[in-house]
Amino acid sequence: MIPTAHIEVKEQEIIAKTVLMPGDPLRAKFIAETFLENVTKFNNVRNMFGYTGTYKGRKISVMASGMGMPSIGIYSYELFNFYGVENIVRIGSCGAYTSSLNLYDVILCTHAWSESSYAKVQNGYKSDTIAASPELNDKLEIIAKDLGIKIHKNIIHSADVFYRENFEEYKDIYEKHGCTCVEMESFALFHNANVLGKKAACLLTVSDNLATHELTTSEERQNAFTNMMKIALEMAE
Ligand code: HPA
Repeated sequence: MIPTAHIEVKEQEIIAKTVLMPGDPLRAKFIAETFLENVTKFNNVRNMFGYTGTYKGRKISVMASGMGMPSIGIYSYELFNFYGVENIVRIGSCGAYTSSLNLYDVILCTHAWSESSYAKVQNGYKSDTIAASPELNDKLEIIAKDLGIKIHKNIIHSADVFYRENFEEYKDIYEKHGCTCVEMESFALFHNANVLGKKAACLLTVSDNLATHELTTSEERQNAFTNMMKIALEMAE
């Protein structure tokens, strides 16, 4: 059933087996233009840009997920189920819940904890925690070590709500569930991978800190996120 409702590519082979997924379409464009060679753009629908190219001669795709679990839920499901994608590595930003994380630190997500109903609604899955693929995580950890980039292996919070009225609730989530930071996509991505027999992982860069109130500008983020991108790009096959 291709093209699907949200991705317009007509030939399955155009998308690589491994797809990097930033949230922002302009970050997907930046990665394609900065790091890839022989680039083809395979998706324009809703400006959710997708590109395939080569990195150091190896094939890889990069496509945006949009923000939040409903959005990444749609795109990752279509990529896995209809386009032969085997691995998705999300590369995103996160807000740190602890002062022990600094701006621009890179986190390799071991598990996503969430109060979201995504997995329950999708197939009745009852737990509030889903693990990333241990196989992809092992590879990403080795790559980071080889590149000399320090990573923190942490449990993260996948939230449905960015603007909470009770802002201080993050302290409970940190203490009760061990989540060191918050983003809004991984729980749904990991769930889809498990349901469809595929693999998913997530690297995050700290863009703001809820405990210390430090913030980055969008311009700083564009450049400083290259460490995380360089790790993920080495997953090209
Ligand atoms: N909340 C949710 N997602 C995020 C944040 C945040 O504070 N920062 C970056 N992604």
